[in-house]
Amino acid sequence: MLNFNTSEDQIIEYKSQKKIYIFNTNDENSDKITIESFGEEWSKFSSFNSDEITNIGNEYFDIVDFKDFDSDAKVLDLGCGTGRWSIYLASKFNEVYSLDPSDAIFSAAELTSEFKNIYLIKASSENIPFDDNTFDFAISLGVLHHIPDTEQALNTLVRKIKKGGKCLIYLYYSLDNRGFMYKLVFKFSNIFRFVISKLPARVKSIVCDIIAFTVYIPLIGISKSTSMFISKNLGSKLPLSYYSDKSLNVIRNDSLDRFGTPLEQRFSKLKIKEMMEKSGLYNITFSENKPYWHAIGQKK
Ligand SMILES: C[S@@+](CC[C@H](N)C(=O)[O-])C[C@H]1O[C@@H](n2cnc3c(N)ncnc32)[C@H](O)[C@@H]1O
Repeated sequence: MLNFNTSEDQIIEYKSQKKIYIFNTNDENSDKITIESFGEEWSKFSSFNSDEITNIGNEYFDIVDFKDFDSDAKVLDLGCGTGRWSIYLASKFNEVYSLDPSDAIFSAAELTSEFKNIYLIKASSENIPFDDNTFDFAISLGVLHHIPDTEQALNTLVRKIKKGGKCLIYLYYSLDNRGFMYKLVFKFSNIFRFVISKLPARVKSIVCDIIAFTVYIPLIGISKSTSMFISKNLGSKLPLSYYSDKSLNVIRNDSLDRFGTPLEQRFSKLKIKEMMEKSGLYNITFSENKPYWHAIGQKK
């Protein structure tokens, strides 16, 4: 296990099989309410089966060539949530360091309990307790857009990567590859997020479940039927088509993620490329597949 560059505040032993290293989670570039909201979200949706992790993981990691890494390569998973992508990586890498400032880290302790090479750290993006130039690979999937200054958080993350190491990020897209109607539907739905994300946790969770059943499922049905009976291409362009092959658990989880999170930002492909380049990454490749946008770059 790597050494920390500062001492932890506490070590919690989870069910006497997994240690959680607790660090300072107070930093200027974190949204406390959003972090709290994720703690609640991931305690509700804390289990994923291995097929789900593999199938969805394959979508995020489609642009990663794992042959590029040495057998002793070390990975950092920033904003790990339940640790589902750390699990995806645990069979491919020697050591995976999974970091999250929210109580999701306790859900991660449960989900990753069998994986001895996953190390759990409760800390935030500006307080990553490792020296610069430490990691061969860093991932941050669905995280940086929930941080007030996304660019700054990305810069900090990239500093932790070794020269020549790689960084995979997934940031919510600004619908830059979508048409007018799609954008309009989205703008309308965003009004709901604004209100729902401010509700008390239990109410928010119920409202998002209602949205999952009354909005997500019917729209997914329309997109599936369109693909089946009219045109596959048209079906894949309809809202929520991404969920056509996803489980109810994932749909409910993402409904809560989408409508229950106070802070979310969206970025165009161009802006993401610019931020990645500014952070010191080059050789940037975007996946043309959903979820949009996920991209990988290499540290200069
Ligand atoms: C949408 S979840 C994604 C979790 C995980 N990457 C996944 O895809 O399953 C966003 C995660 O970012 C974490 N997060 C929010 N603010 C953060 C910060 N300042 N530093 C690190 N992680 C943060 C949240 O606690 C939450 O678990």
